[in-house]
Amino acid sequence: MVPDIKSAYGKVTYRKLSDLKTYFSDRKAVEEILKKTDPVLYEVYENEVPKEEEHLTFATTILYPGKVGDEFYFTKGHFHFEPDGAEVTIGIQGTGIVLLQNRENQVKSEPLTPFSVAYSSPGWAHRVVNNSTEKLVFLSICRADVGHDYDTIIKKGFGLPTR
Ligand SMILES: [Fe+2]
Repeated sequence: MVPDIKSAYGKVTYRKLSDLKTYFSDRKAVEEILKKTDPVLYEVYENEVPKEEEHLTFATTILYPGKVGDEFYFTKGHFHFEPDGAEVTIGIQGTGIVLLQNRENQVKSEPLTPFSVAYSSPGWAHRVVNNSTEKLVFLSICRADVGHDYDTIIKKGFGLPTR
């Protein structure tokens, strides 16, 4: 049983397929789905904190199950800009995987299950994949003053499959 996430946080961001259409490899599958609907792939719940090093950003994400072509739904994934700080991802409900990749293109993955903790070291990009049929809920925490570099992942993709 997940606590009432929606009332615990002040801000929610909905990430729809249209927001991630350049991230999936099967663009034809993306367009076919978008002709009919624009599903929410995940929701990010967070509270605003000052973007200063003394503060922590913490957000709970609900990543829904589903597929685009043969890829499971995933989060955009990103590197952190300077300061390129670490991040922890803690499983709350459901199962999935955390993909990790550094700027030298080394890759690894960590399972995400209730109470598991995945550590993204400084310099490692992180993406969560829901390879199950249930919703996946997890908490992410990092320094509040990191920036988010999504472009590198759009250009290079992840070296590990999301299938
Ligand atoms: Fe991050």
